[in-house]
Amino acid sequence: MPELIEFAKAAAIHAGDLIVRERQQNSLQHDFKNGNELVTQADLKADALITGLIRKTYPGHLILSEELAPDLDNVSRIDGDLWIVDPIDGTVNYAHGHCQSAVSIAHAREGRIDIGVVYNPFTRELFWAESGGGAFLNEQRIEVARESELRRAIIATGFPYDKSTLEPMLERVAKVLRVCADIRRLGSAALDICWVAAGRLDGYYESLSLWDFAAAQVIAIEAGAQYGHFTEVPPEVAPQFHTDGILVANPELFPKLREILRDDVNR
Ligand code: IPD
Ligand code: CA
Ligand code: CA
Repeated sequence: MPELIEFAKAAAIHAGDLIVRERQQNSLQHDFKNGNELVTQADLKADALITGLIRKTYPGHLILSEELAPDLDNVSRIDGDLWIVDPIDGTVNYAHGHCQSAVSIAHAREGRIDIGVVYNPFTRELFWAESGGGAFLNEQRIEVARESELRRAIIATGFPYDKSTLEPMLERVAKVLRVCADIRRLGSAALDICWVAAGRLDGYYESLSLWDFAAAQVIAIEAGAQYGHFTEVPPEVAPQFHTDGILVANPELFPKLREILRDDVNR
């Protein structure tokens, strides 16, 4: 059996090639899940490719994937091997011809996410990490930026497809924009977090689904980021798997950003 990290890298590159080809060759067919979440045929094909490779290579492993296997419950309590897959993170960018999209593959064992691979096939950038082994962009070691002043910091965030809870998010954006240098909405949460890991952004926050952040989380932590939440994590939830109020930044900026983002301050 191949090493897990090498398998994950190869699967991400394979799926990345597929989504590039799909966009070059075909007029992309798309649909809207739940009325407003864009999904293309490339999302489905890439999901089938990755989950097919996992099933063939590691028949005993469980899979959580956004398009074809999204319903696994209590994932943080799974003892055995679990793969967490987002076949295209940044589908809206992908469907509009932008280059900020990625394949995201994470592995967890005994309730701990230990491997992350995020591959942008349009820039050929492969971000990857194994717990305890450092974070890499292609073959280069990466580290978070050292910026410690909010007024110099560039912060990324994102917004959900469902706009019914937009109000508090807009308030947070206003608070961040008032004290930080600027804001980015780049359209791929996995890449946003990897860009914090690589020092291209100083911080990132958003509420997400597990497949959006599982792989990038390992990469950010291994690059020296503080990874946590600006909302309370319920005691019954394992923090690594908690999806709301995610905040990633270098350890100096993290508490400062957390203070700004907390809902009960500056109101
Ligand atoms: C989305 C992207 C986006 C984030 C959304 C995610 P998708 O994932 O990561 O940046 O703001 O919350 O749903 O739908 O492109 O896989
Ligand atoms: Ca996603
Ligand atoms: Ca996706």
